[in-house]
Amino acid sequence: MYKNLVSGVNTLVPLINGNKVPYINFDNAATTPPFSSVIDGINRFSPYYSSVHRGTGYKSIISSQFYDKARFIVLDFVKADKNFHTAIFVKNTTEAINKLSFRLKDEIKDGIVLSTYMEHHSNDLPWRLRYRVDYVDVDERGRLDLNHLESLLKKYKGEVKLVAVTGASNVTGYINPIHKIAELAHKYGSKILVDGAQLVPHHPVDMKPVGDPAHIDFIAFSGHKMYAPFGTGVLIAPKHIFQAGISDQVGGGTVDLVTPKEVVWTSPPEKEEAGTPNLFGVVALIESIKTLNKLNMGKISNYEKKLTKYTLERLKTVPNIILYDDEDVKNKVSIISFNIKGLYHGKVAAILSLEGGIGVRNGCFCAQPYVQKLLKVSEEEMEEYKKNPNLYRPGTVRLSYGLYNDFKEINVLVELLRQIGNKVDYYDYKYRNPPFYSK
Ligand code: ALA
Repeated sequence: MYKNLVSGVNTLVPLINGNKVPYINFDNAATTPPFSSVIDGINRFSPYYSSVHRGTGYKSIISSQFYDKARFIVLDFVKADKNFHTAIFVKNTTEAINKLSFRLKDEIKDGIVLSTYMEHHSNDLPWRLRYRVDYVDVDERGRLDLNHLESLLKKYKGEVKLVAVTGASNVTGYINPIHKIAELAHKYGSKILVDGAQLVPHHPVDMKPVGDPAHIDFIAFSGHKMYAPFGTGVLIAPKHIFQAGISDQVGGGTVDLVTPKEVVWTSPPEKEEAGTPNLFGVVALIESIKTLNKLNMGKISNYEKKLTKYTLERLKTVPNIILYDDEDVKNKVSIISFNIKGLYHGKVAAILSLEGGIGVRNGCFCAQPYVQKLLKVSEEEMEEYKKNPNLYRPGTVRLSYGLYNDFKEINVLVELLRQIGNKVDYYDYKYRNPPFYSK
């Protein structure tokens, strides 16, 4: 339905038999192709491209004005409070969370950060590195256990300063009830950070008014996962958090005054953006937001849910398939993890590419603790993998859709999977010396 909105849908790629077919990209959770409107927007802006906050020429003024206004468009996209929140432009979600972890030193001190077992490493490791961290568990199906969350909040008696939770899992696509989690966090005196990398591009997001107990304090997301791959991500946070203290990176643009002996830091958000801003990254992000708004996030979400539902129904007919997630597509973004019994996940992913021109990701998706839980891999087993890095590790094959994918592409996938599932031994032997496997 939205096929022509992105670049590269007709790109031909070679199969192992020498034929060429249009590439089917089912790896949108890793990165999406650009919207054509984004490429057009970059081209339209090019004649005016100039330095931001660093020049008095006409083009510099246009560029600075565009950049300053962009923050408000971004805040509006997730219904942040423009008087209370600020949007800091960073490289991606990972950089946003690392920045926040550095900047919350005074707020968290020796308090606790609650992360969860379903996080991407980027919403776990920056907290582990600096603070005492505990983890909210997941249930049998990999859904976040809200009872466990509340029991931890109670156990730590007001010591939890931040609940860092993903908006949607990059492995199963499960959408977390972020507002329910926010209410719980606030009830016990904590704030909440939502890793929005997988949620924001696929689902409407409303941070809610600051006085509402269900409001979201912090959210981070990446342009390259929302059709704007030009190196910009966003951290949205209460502006006052960045008033005191010093940024994780300092230099050009972060100061009001510098003498050989003294530095007066400027105000946020500029204080947090050392160096020349990535203007094209921001132009791309704004074009993407405009396109997403025009299409309507609710409609996009519904369409992608239809793709997911259709896929899950069809995958059930594939011999030897193992599906990990539940079928509650209402509470899922368009991500599905699976395996074919008897075939290494890396081999399945390679076959999909070599015989179908289909791009997927396999492995643990930078969410190793979650995949270990889903696949019920014991700590003892993990010790073996640690001792022997050459062993093929447990993991899954992941499908992740964008708004431009369609039912026809899913049919191609399912038919190829059916062939593979019907002849597991044949495929295992045929690809005994694979050209590439990703671990
Ligand atoms: N976080 C991205 C993914 O899940 C890279 O693939």
